[in-house]
Amino acid sequence: MQIEFVDLARQNKLLFRNYSKIIAGVVKEANFIAGSEVNVFESTFAAFCGKKYAVGVNSGTDALLLSLIAYGIGRGDEVITAPNTFFATVEAIHATGAKVIFADIDPATYTLNPQQVAKKVTSRTRAIIPIHLFGQPTDMDPLLLLAQKYHLKIIEDCCQAHGARYKGKLVPYSETGAFSFYPSKNLGGFGDGGIVVTDNALIAAKVRRFRNHGASQKYTHEVFGFNSRLDTLQAAILNFKLKHLVNWNRLRQKHSLFYIELLQQLTQLQLPKPADFTTHVYHIFAITTPHRHQLQKFLRSRGIATGIHYPVPLHLTRPFLAQGHKRGDFPIAEGTSKRLLSLPMFPELKQTEIKYIAATIHEFFRLKKSSRP
Ligand SMILES: Cc1ncc(COP(=O)(O)O)c(C=O)c1O
Repeated sequence: MQIEFVDLARQNKLLFRNYSKIIAGVVKEANFIAGSEVNVFESTFAAFCGKKYAVGVNSGTDALLLSLIAYGIGRGDEVITAPNTFFATVEAIHATGAKVIFADIDPATYTLNPQQVAKKVTSRTRAIIPIHLFGQPTDMDPLLLLAQKYHLKIIEDCCQAHGARYKGKLVPYSETGAFSFYPSKNLGGFGDGGIVVTDNALIAAKVRRFRNHGASQKYTHEVFGFNSRLDTLQAAILNFKLKHLVNWNRLRQKHSLFYIELLQQLTQLQLPKPADFTTHVYHIFAITTPHRHQLQKFLRSRGIATGIHYPVPLHLTRPFLAQGHKRGDFPIAEGTSKRLLSLPMFPELKQTEIKYIAATIHEFFRLKKSSRP
C-alpha cells in the first residue's frame, strides 16, 4: 500500500466539478485582484472566527509581518516566540527589524511555555507570538496575564490551527491572529494566501493599507507598504472550502482518535495528548519516539510517507547560531525535535490506511524487540 503524507489530489478529485466551476466563474469575470470574492471571504472568515475584521493577504508569513508592523513593532524591540515552528514565524519578526527572543516549550503539547516566556521579558519586549502548533492552541490565559502586566502585544500564529479552540473559543483567542492558506493547511488554497483576523479596527485598517502599497485608495500612498493581496481566485476557492472546514476538522479528529486507539499499547511512543482546555484540529498528527529515524525508514520501506516537524529547532539554524545561540539553550525543543515523527493526516485518509500504518508501527517495535540480544 502507498500512502502519501498529505494527499491533496484525493480531495481535488472528489470536488473537481465544484472547483472547475469556481475557477471558470473567476476567469469569466476577469477581476483577478480585489474581486468581490475577496470581500465575501474576508467577512465570512471573520464571522467564522468570531472576530470583527479580516484582511486577506498573500501568505501566512505576511499575515504575521503586517500584523507586527501594524502594532508598531520594529527596530530595537524584542518579540518572544518558540523555537519549534516553521521558519516563517521568525522571518516575520526579523523583517520588522525587531529581535527574535526564544522561550522553551511545554513537553506535552509542544507549545510555548508561559513560565519560560516570563523569564525572557525585558524592558525591550514588545510582543509575544504563541504558535498553535500542529492544530493545538497554546495555553493563552497565562500569556494574556503576562501581556497585561508588561504591556505587550500578542499576535497568535494560527497558521496550523483553523477552527481550533481554546477554552471553547475559536482561535485567535486574543485580539489578533494570523492564518496561512498554504495548500496543505486545514483550510488551504490553490497557491499561497493568508489572512489577519482582529477585533481592532485600527489594526485592520493598517494591515489593509500595508497590503496594498500603503494606499487606502488607488495612487494615494500614505505610507510605504507591500504588494500582499489575497487574489480573487484564492478567495473564491477558500470561500467554497470554508463550508467544508468543520467537517474536515471532524474527520481529522476521528482519524486521530483511531490512531490513538490502535497505538496506545505501545509504551515506546508518546501520542498526542491535547490539554483539557483545547480543541485540537490535528493539522499534524505527531508521535514521538527515540527511534524516529529507524521508524521513518521502516515506514518508507512499506510505502508510508511521514514528515518531521521540525528537524532543527530554529535557534540552531545558521542565522541564530551566528547570533550566539548554541545547543542546550532550549532543551525541551531540542529533545522533541529529535523524536517527533508526523504520520499521514488529511480528511480523506481511509480507516484501512490508518490500520495499515498502525500495524506497520507495531511490526517495527516487534522486530526491534526480537532483534535485541
Ligand atoms: C506555524 C506557521 N507559521 C507561519 C507559516 C507561514 O505561512 P505561509 O507559508 O502561508 O507563508 C506557516 C506555514 O507553513 C506555519 O506553519
